[in-house]
Amino acid sequence: MSTQFSLEAVRAATPGIENVIHVNNAGSALPPSVVTDTVVDYLRREEAIGGYETADERHGQLEAVYDSLGALVGAPREHMAVIENATRAWDMAVYGYPFERGDRVVTCRAEYSSNVLAFLQLERRFGIEMVLIDDDDYGQIDLAQVDTELAAGAAMMAMTHIPTSGGLINPAEEVGALCAKHGVFYVLDACQSAGQVPLDVNTIGCDVLSGTGRKYLRGPRGTGFLYAGERALEVLEPPFIDLHSADWTQADDYEWRPDARRFENWETYYAGKAGLGVAVDYALSLGIETTAARITNLGARLRAGLESLDRVGVHDKGARRGGIVTFTVDGVDAASVQAQLLLRKINTSTSGPDRARLDLEPRGLPTVIRASAHYYNSEDEIDAVIQAVDAVR
Ligand SMILES: Cc1ncc(COP(=O)(O)O)c(C=O)c1O
Repeated sequence: MSTQFSLEAVRAATPGIENVIHVNNAGSALPPSVVTDTVVDYLRREEAIGGYETADERHGQLEAVYDSLGALVGAPREHMAVIENATRAWDMAVYGYPFERGDRVVTCRAEYSSNVLAFLQLERRFGIEMVLIDDDDYGQIDLAQVDTELAAGAAMMAMTHIPTSGGLINPAEEVGALCAKHGVFYVLDACQSAGQVPLDVNTIGCDVLSGTGRKYLRGPRGTGFLYAGERALEVLEPPFIDLHSADWTQADDYEWRPDARRFENWETYYAGKAGLGVAVDYALSLGIETTAARITNLGARLRAGLESLDRVGVHDKGARRGGIVTFTVDGVDAASVQAQLLLRKINTSTSGPDRARLDLEPRGLPTVIRASAHYYNSEDEIDAVIQAVDAVR
């Protein structure tokens, strides 16, 4: 696909930049107007002719969403499902795994909090064992330890590619190679990486990948997606069933859908789905290699600027880092910094150790401020954030 990136054009297509400096993209990004227009137009059509009738009329548009998602991660459309958020997408796969008592699940310190809660629940309910891999000297997952633990026997490797609370980009492909070496089922949480860095399930080698619409893809809230590879379709049984995921073949029998849509719900957010497809197409049209490089540069600029300030600590780990920057200001708690920045029309968020008990808590960090840059942020905006933190300090 031929791609083009113009900062001027992407900013012109992003109405929100008139109101705010938005560095809360790891929370929910400002959508381009083409995404909002698609959702609103879809809803208007439902208003005009009815929901089921709109779905019939827009069948082609809705079906094309699977092609778009497939293109995003390098997979055939049959392996893609649209699910309301990244957590449920991940849950549909992980809770669908046929765990047996004593099964070991290997994961990392950066694993998303809701995923860890799920493993704790699975420990209680089914007696699985969660095995935690430590960070290496760079603060990313320790690959040598992954190798050792997978060699010792594991049912599943679950890793978060880019954590919610930091700039780290975990080595997804290297972990995929180790999973292939040991024949271990690999689940990748790509919630923060979808739209932020290029994703190719073939080179990553994951069985399952989950993502969300509203963050770096700049799609509508309430949208997410799942990739389920060949092995996933063989091994996983969705934890829930309905008339969309299965055919009721006889009074006492049913058959699962053959494709990944068996993980979907019958009822879904159609307007959002249409918007998600457009968001993915938009991201692809800009070129994710290009936008990823820009996000990395803006993240590095922000980090360097904040590091140059006295009494400001930057807490990102990793050999490779992206657009998420976490920091603290000595003597000013994170909520106050966030509020002060908001008064200056700068959107950030905070991340607390109570939500990152395997990551921030053992590092002894308090709640940190998270500023997450996107390609549509200008260098001037990043510098304005640094100046604002300087003033707050
Ligand atoms: C790494 C990671 N995984 C999963 C999620 C959950 O995504 P969603 O809110 O779409 O379920 C988040 C949300 O912040 C996240 O950062």
